Amino acid sequence: MDERKARGSRWSRMRAAALALCLFAAPAAADMTLKAAAATSARYSGAALDPDLFDEQPYVRLAREQFSAVTPENAMKWAVVEPMRGVFDWRAADKLVAFAQANGQKIRGHNLVWYMQLPDWLTSGTFTPTELRQLMVDHVTLEASRYKGSIYAWDVVNETFAEDGAWRHDMWLQAMGPDYVEIALRAARAADPGAKLYINDYNIESAGPKMRALYDLVASLKRKGAPIDGVGFESHFVAGKAPDDMREVMQAFANLGVDVAVTELDLRVKTPPDAKALDAQAADYAKVIGACVAVKQCVGVSTWGVTDAHSWIPFFFAGYGAALPFDENYQPKPAFFAAIDAFTRAERR
Ligand code: G3I
Repeated sequence: MDERKARGSRWSRMRAAALALCLFAAPAAADMTLKAAAATSARYSGAALDPDLFDEQPYVRLAREQFSAVTPENAMKWAVVEPMRGVFDWRAADKLVAFAQANGQKIRGHNLVWYMQLPDWLTSGTFTPTELRQLMVDHVTLEASRYKGSIYAWDVVNETFAEDGAWRHDMWLQAMGPDYVEIALRAARAADPGAKLYINDYNIESAGPKMRALYDLVASLKRKGAPIDGVGFESHFVAGKAPDDMREVMQAFANLGVDVAVTELDLRVKTPPDAKALDAQAADYAKVIGACVAVKQCVGVSTWGVTDAHSWIPFFFAGYGAALPFDENYQPKPAFFAAIDAFTRAERR
């Protein structure tokens, strides 16, 4: 056999083998998981988890099978981990970390500095600005050190700006001015040098004053050499209203030299939803995931919860719910299939 023929037959054998592998390896959409779909574009699929639900088998099964990253929905917040000054309760946070490690999942730590879910002793206490700065640094240092080496990314600072782009007038701003962000980031870096450090916010997914304020902050932190590695786009949307320019906005942030991630995705609908609403929701899941996979620096997409049986939405938005890709009976919705499709088929970078 001459060289050309030999090469030709090697190629056809390889092509046949590759085809067989594809046919064999590509699961039908119904068997595909979000985690496997996300992996085809080298992203993670994540979800916020509640360790109090770890004794519910269907919940645990989905949490394990569908997600390659997890975020504690509440378990790592300051009010939970230090309910009284100097009295710590790491049980829920430890449980979540153990779960993730047992299942080979990345952990997005959430969150270190925020204006909500702070312990009463902190919000109702009287502290000088210097004391508040020390309390914040000590908290960041303690929590980030405790989980050093286990956390893939920390939401170090959460929700810094108001809707008009002004700084949110919370206790941290009042005590330290805008510098609190850099101070917190530096404390987190010192405590866990291996974790990616994020600022996380909502209503920044579309161009506007809040998005521009955060953009300017990240740009200035970068110029100063402050340790900022990522921006989290929470993405709590009404189905049908996911922004059209999310990809461009994420790309603009990424161009500053940071990773970006969709950190808390849910798409609420009026309850009970009809088929049309669920289809509109599915289309927006595809839109948001499509935006992420089209931006090279977008590392993954996390939903804020696993199923409609446990979601913050009905408690915070009367008349709305059903915001997640699995329904109250843990069954996949059109949004689930749209998500799989978007992870596996969208234009990738
Ligand atoms: O733990 C208490 C429980 O003891 C009590 O019986 C019950 C009665 O209301 O409340 C329980 O605490 C609730 C807690 O969730 C745990 O379920 C709080 O009231 C409730 O306010 C709290 O809500 C959380 C919310 O953050 C607080 O702002 C949601 O679960 C959580 O999903 C939500 O998550 C935030 C992210 O951290 C940041 N981005 C926005 C996102 C949605 O608001």
